[in-house]
Amino acid sequence: MMRLGVNVDHVATVREARKSKQPDPVAAAIATEMAGADGVVCHLREDRRHIRDKDIYVLKEVVKTHFNLEMAATEEMVKIATEVVPDMVTLVPEKREEVTTEGGLDVITKYDRIEEVVSELRNHNIVVSLFVDPEIGQVKAASKCRADYIELHTGLYANADDLGQAGDELEKLRSMAIAASKLGLGVSAGHGLDYHNVRDILEIEQIEELNIGHAIVAKAVMVGMERAVREMLEIVRR
Ligand code: PXP
Repeated sequence: MMRLGVNVDHVATVREARKSKQPDPVAAAIATEMAGADGVVCHLREDRRHIRDKDIYVLKEVVKTHFNLEMAATEEMVKIATEVVPDMVTLVPEKREEVTTEGGLDVITKYDRIEEVVSELRNHNIVVSLFVDPEIGQVKAASKCRADYIELHTGLYANADDLGQAGDELEKLRSMAIAASKLGLGVSAGHGLDYHNVRDILEIEQIEELNIGHAIVAKAVMVGMERAVREMLEIVRR
């Protein structure tokens, strides 16, 4: 059965909109585990726009399933990761001006640096995954630099304009999952997956785990709204 890692970044995005303490991504992580999720994922960005350093340290203590830290391959982030020692680190590219991670890591161009970071993290007993586009060159480079996993970027599939393009992207994901698996890499996938487009991904048997954030947080806001308003009305109309 495929595993589900839930990304709690956007719980922190709401918190940071008011620079307050609520909602707490750590509380959300506990709720996702209580609901049966197989792991918790979060991205510590260079600009700290949602998840903050303290969240990472608390999540490491609190998460009982599997804690996957997404981060850029910078010196600052490697220092934090080797201090916290999450179960897994997923290396992602990062641009300050982007709204979300826009593309996969270019393992080919940045090979030397990525190999060095993979090796350092593995020396700290951290399982390392590289977030890559479904391209054979990237998959081979990920294997060569001794990453344990790749996470296939599903963004182009999820945001396809029509069924034809979605089908083409799905086939790319399938063939790259097969190629990665043959090279001995573990395979996960994520980005832009929702309650509809996830279904076809489930047919790719080499994919072991999906990491989903935005769609789940968006759904949580909607399914929780009625109860939240009723609870406030109970107080206001007393
Ligand atoms: N995987 C990676 C590497 C990501 O950067 C993200 C976004 O933070 C996700 C998965 C989850 O994407 P989404 O929020 O669109 O579900």
